[in-house]
Amino acid sequence: MGPRKVAGSEGQALNIQDLIKLLRNRWMLICATTAIAVLIAVAISLLTTPLYQATTRLFVSTTTGASATEIYQGNLFSQQRVVSYTELLMGETVAQRTIEKLDLDMTAEELRGNVRASAKPDTVLIDVQVLDESPVRARDAADALSDEFVSLVRELETPEAGAKPDARVVVEQRASIPADPVYPKTSRNVTVGLVLGLLLGVGVAIIRDLLDNTVKDEETLEQITTVGVVANIPLDKSRRKEPGISFDNDHSSIAEAFREFRTNLQFLDVDNPPRVLVVTSSLPSEGKSTTALNIALALAEAEHSVVLIDGDMRRPKLDAYLNLVGSVGFSTVLTGRATLKDVLQKTRFPGLSVLTSGAIPPNPSELLGSMSAKKVLAELRANFDFVIVDSSPLLAVTDAAILAANSDGVLVIARYGETKRDQLSHAVGNLKAVGARLLGAVLTMTPVRAASSYSYSYYGPTGDERKRSSGGEKKQ
Ligand SMILES: Nc1ncnc2c1ncn2[C@@H]1O[C@H](COP(=O)(O)OP(=O)(O)O)[C@@H](O)[C@H]1O
Ligand SMILES: [Mg+2]
Repeated sequence: MGPRKVAGSEGQALNIQDLIKLLRNRWMLICATTAIAVLIAVAISLLTTPLYQATTRLFVSTTTGASATEIYQGNLFSQQRVVSYTELLMGETVAQRTIEKLDLDMTAEELRGNVRASAKPDTVLIDVQVLDESPVRARDAADALSDEFVSLVRELETPEAGAKPDARVVVEQRASIPADPVYPKTSRNVTVGLVLGLLLGVGVAIIRDLLDNTVKDEETLEQITTVGVVANIPLDKSRRKEPGISFDNDHSSIAEAFREFRTNLQFLDVDNPPRVLVVTSSLPSEGKSTTALNIALALAEAEHSVVLIDGDMRRPKLDAYLNLVGSVGFSTVLTGRATLKDVLQKTRFPGLSVLTSGAIPPNPSELLGSMSAKKVLAELRANFDFVIVDSSPLLAVTDAAILAANSDGVLVIARYGETKRDQLSHAVGNLKAVGARLLGAVLTMTPVRAASSYSYSYYGPTGDERKRSSGGEKKQ
C-alpha cells in the first residue's frame, strides 16, 4: 500500500499540514480579506482629520536651603509635587484659563481632552502635549497652558500673600510649531489592517472549511463509499467543448488520469474481471457522461473493443457529446422497434461503438428493468470486451440502481467540492439496497492545484510520479 495521506488521519483536529493545505486552497479568500482590511485602514487614515501636537517641558523646583540634606529633601518634595502637577495640568482650571487667555472657540472639557501631561519617573520634569487641528494653535495652546499653569502654581504654593512660594514651576522649553501631524498614524493603521485582515481571512477560511460538507479528498470518498478510489480526474475546461479525449495524441493530465483509471480497473478483480460497468453518481452534472465516455475511450485505446450505452433515458447526452444520431437507440431496441445491430453506431474513435439512449420514453425505469434490457446487456457483453453504461443520477430516479443490479459492478462518481457527503452516502445506500456491486469510486473535476496537494496515490507512489513526469500538470 502506498503512502497514505497523513493529514486528517489523526482525528478531527486541524493539524499543521491541514492548515497549510487550507491556506493554499483558500489563498484568494485570505488575500481578498487582507486587501479589504488594508483598504479600510487607508480610508480611515484619509478620513481622519490631521492633528498636530505641540510640546512644552516644565521644570519643578522648590525653595531650599544650602545644606545637602535640605537640597535632598527639596528634591524629594519636588518629585512628590510633580505627580499632583500633572493632574492639575490636565484639569479644568488651567484649561478654562487658557481658553480665556487665547479666546479659543472650545469648551474646557474639549481642551482637556487634547492635553497630556506626563512626568518622567524620578525627575522633576513634566512634559505637556497639546493636540490641535491647527499646528499654530497647538503651539499657542501649549505655551499659554504652560504659562497659566506656572501662575496657578504660584498662587497655590504661596502660603500667604507676600511670602516666598514653597515650589516654583518654570517653562524650561517652549513649544514650536509642529511640522507634521501626529494623527492619522497611517503606517500603524495599515499594519493593524494587514494583521487583522490576515487573521480574519484565515479565520473565515477555517470556518468555511469546517462548514464544508462536500467531498474534497480521496480519503473521505473511500470512507463514504467503502470502496477504493480508482481515479482522480482533474478539472479540464476543454472537456466542456470537446468531451471526448483523443487518446492517441493526448498526454495532458486528464488523459493520464484516465489511463491510470483504466489500469486500476484491470486490477479490480483479477479472477473475475468486471466487463459490464455502470457509471453513476448522486446528482446531475457530476461528470457521469464525460467520465463514462472517456473511460470507454481509454479502454478502446488499449485495443479493447468497447461499447458505450447511454442508459440515461431522461437527460441523454452521449449523442451530443459524440455527434451521433440520438433519435434511435437503447429505448428503440427495448420497445422492439429495431434490432441492436441496426442502432449500434460506430464513432470516429477506433474501437468504440455507442448505443445512444433513443427517443425519450415515458417509463424509463420499467424499460431498464425489463427482460429485454437484460438480454441487450447480455448480447453486448458477448460481443464486446467492455460494456460501459452511462446512467441517471441515483438520488433522482431508480434507473441507475436498476441498471446497476444487472451489471458486473458500479463506479460511483463524486464531483470535487460539489457532491455533499450525505448525498453520496445516500446514493451508496440506494446501490447497496438493490444488491449492486460497488467496484470503485471516482473523484472528478478536482482543481489542478488541489489535485497536487490533496492527492495521495492509492496504488503506490508511482501513480503520482507518472502524472508529474507526463508534464501535463500545468495544462488546463
Ligand atoms: N473533468 C472535467 N473537467 C471539466 N469539466 C468537466 C469534467 N467532467 C465533466 N465536466 C463538465 O461538467 C458538466 C457535467 O458533465 P456531465 O458528464 O454531462 O455530467 P452528468 O452526466 O453527471 O450530468 C459538463 O459541462 C461537462 O463538460
Ligand atoms: Mg449525463
